[in-house]
Amino acid sequence: MANNLLKGKRGIIFGALDEKSIAWAVAERCHEEGAQIVLTNAPVALRFGKINELAEKLNTKVIPADATKIEDIENLFTESMELLGGKIDFVLHSIGMSLNVRKKKEYTNLNHDWMLKTFDISAVSFHKVMQVAYNMDAMNDGGSILALTYMAAQRTFPEYNEMAESKALLESYARSFGYHFGVKNKVRVNTISQSPTMTTAGSGVKGFGTFFDFADKMSPLGNADAASCADYCVVMFSDLTRMVTMQNLFHDGGFINMGINSVALAGDEDAEA
Ligand SMILES: NC(=O)c1ccc[n+]([C@@H]2O[C@H](COP(=O)([O-])OP(=O)(O)OC[C@H]3O[C@@H](n4cnc5c(N)ncnc54)[C@H](O)[C@@H]3O)[C@@H](O)[C@H]2O)c1
Repeated sequence: MANNLLKGKRGIIFGALDEKSIAWAVAERCHEEGAQIVLTNAPVALRFGKINELAEKLNTKVIPADATKIEDIENLFTESMELLGGKIDFVLHSIGMSLNVRKKKEYTNLNHDWMLKTFDISAVSFHKVMQVAYNMDAMNDGGSILALTYMAAQRTFPEYNEMAESKALLESYARSFGYHFGVKNKVRVNTISQSPTMTTAGSGVKGFGTFFDFADKMSPLGNADAASCADYCVVMFSDLTRMVTMQNLFHDGGFINMGINSVALAGDEDAEA
């Protein structure tokens, strides 16, 4: 159901790779709510992903940018403002990649050069995006910047590996930059901590399917899917949340506050009876 919550707003959405990507669902919902958007991803993702299909569907353009490169991000903001006809109202950072996970390195035997690259892609890129937007004065007053994160920043999920520290850093950048952006022009900066979701990045984590099922049984509302995450992002980009900033917002069906329940413990829905 569309309510024109983002009518007249301009946004940049990072990270739509294919139709399973959370950013894909967010882009579709923002478009539905009346926003004008630009899509972006790393040049390599443009070659093997499907982002051009999405751009065609939403009648927009893909501007390639490696989010670890300042000059790419500067070009992205310059071109986006030209294309959309003004300053930007919202940005979604939906980027994550771990070299050690990809190469199946255990947490106790990490390649630390790869770990730093993981931090650069998954977390420092968020600071870089905000720094460019801040210094170019590219955000409209009262704008909204979001990044997607995961609860491994607070709790231990051994197979999540170095991504746990990436997410802790990402969430910290939201608080610190949220201060500076708030003072400058009332721009909000938040992270959404999303349930396990079946995507390319998600399913790269060892044992993801088992964990996905466990989280689904443990959460009173079940796992939040990409479509409901997109709804939450729309609300956070809208003017309805203009006083919410520097927060890590759990969007996980209640999982964060659970201890144990009989369904998850038994691994069997009949146990509830
Ligand atoms: N899937 C889950 O279970 C889950 C849960 C919580 C949070 N998240 C987070 O959601 C976000 C989106 O992930 P997803 O699950 O939709 O998977 P995804 O694989 O569809 O998206 C990850 C994106 O990061 C992009 N990317 C990688 N390196 C980049 C670079 N250098 N520059 C620009 N873009 C780059 C990829 O091309 C891809 O589009 C990530 O931050 C992820 O950690 C995912």
